[in-house]
This record gives sequence, C-alpha cells and structure tokens, in this order.
Amino acid sequence: MVTRKDLTDLLRWHQEIGVDAIVMNEPNNRMKPAAPPVVTTVKPVISSMPAQHGSTHPASACQTLDELKDAMANFNQCSLKTTAMNMVFSDGNPKASIMLVGEAPGADEDKQGLPFVGLSGQLLDRMLATVKLSRKENIYITNIIPWRPPGNRPPTTAEIAACQPFVERHIELINPKILILIGGVAAKTLLNTTEGIVRLRGTWRSYQSAGLSQPIKTMATLHPAYLMRSPGQKAMVWRDLLSIAKEANIAL
Ligand code: URA
Repeated sequence: MVTRKDLTDLLRWHQEIGVDAIVMNEPNNRMKPAAPPVVTTVKPVISSMPAQHGSTHPASACQTLDELKDAMANFNQCSLKTTAMNMVFSDGNPKASIMLVGEAPGADEDKQGLPFVGLSGQLLDRMLATVKLSRKENIYITNIIPWRPPGNRPPTTAEIAACQPFVERHIELINPKILILIGGVAAKTLLNTTEGIVRLRGTWRSYQSAGLSQPIKTMATLHPAYLMRSPGQKAMVWRDLLSIAKEANIAL
C-alpha cells in the first residue's frame, strides 16, 4: 500500500531533481525526441563531449546579439538545454556601459526566460537601485549558463566549459566599460582563478578576451542568493556598489 510517507518522499525527490512547479495539465517529457523520430543524421546531446574552443565554437562567428542568441538556441552540446523550459539570454539595456554576469537561471528565470527575476533577482534590483542602476536604463544582465541546472544545483565544469565561449562573446559584443561578476561561479570562470569570492570581491580586476580591444574594469561581488541566507554580509556588497558607482561617475 502506498503510504503518506511514500508520497512525501516522492514529492521531495521531485523537488530535489528540479521538478518544483506544475505548469501544464499534462506531463511533458522533455527527454523524448521531438517528432519526427530522431534519424541517424541527428547528433545526440552528449554533455561529456570535449568542449569546443576558439574559432571552432559557434560563438566565435557571431557578429550581433541576435546571431549569438540564435547560435545558443541551436547549440546541442550542453545537456542542461534538454531539462530547461526556456533559454535565458539577457535583460536590460544592450547599450549600457555596465554589464552584470550571474551564474545560471533558477526556477523563476527558467519559467520567464529572463535573468534574475526571482527573489534573489528582486534583491539584486533593489541593491542596484541604491546606486541608481536599473536594467531599464543603465545596466545589461546575463549569466554564465543560459539554461537552468535541475534543482538549482551548481553547474558542472563541463557545462561551464561548453557555455563559456558564449558569455565571452556576449561580453565582447556589449563591450561594456565596467563588468560586475555576481557570485563565485561567475567570478572564478571569467577571472580564470580558483580563488574564492570572498577574496575576489571588493577590488578592481581586469577582464580581457581575444575579441576585446582593451581590458574591462571588473568588480566581483557576493551573490544575492547568498545575501538572503547571510544578510549580515550586505555591507560588503554595498561597499562594492559604491566603488562601481564612483567608477561609473554616478552622482549619488
Ligand atoms: N541566480 C543567477 O546567478 N542568475 C539568475 O539569473 C538567477 C539567479
């Protein structure tokens, strides 16, 4: 007999693997091949495939944001795409001189197809507003990974390696004056270091890639999801935001 505990365990298991919302009346098996059935010429999604780099990666040929978005939508070498509901490309003003890069979408971002729209994103917006930054006007936002990792687990090194050329090209196309890296995954990936976020934050760093004419001034800071768990650390982010506002000549 199925007991109440069995059902609770089943619900908990669904939550742990990322099934934490009901969005359709019928279950949708995203692992099922789309009709018509897969033919032998269709490449399977293999997450452990060696990551493509440099000029072999589809990101390298993209000359506009639309081309980049299309290339990402057609990319089949990151298995997170098969479990995500939506690809999360970006939000904000593409002409902004400040670009912010987070880690990966969560459940709310996956549903809406926009970065930082859940609770931690709302906290981020409020913090940015204290230094007169808003996605409507003067900031552009994306993530290292455009698809939600199931259950909000951290992205693996293979997933990061597969997607990194996209975010690097994204930064080159926006070419901001200031880059803000939110949280340890974004900071370590783009600053190419294993140092922790607490040591990385708070001082100006330099970000460079092959397609940039000059390095970009970069500030790493703590992730708002971490601040929600440890509100005592907000003062550090406040200091980082004041440095950013000063560098961007924003009068407060
Ligand atoms: N956390 C991130 O790093 N990015 C998002 O878009 C949402 C939550």
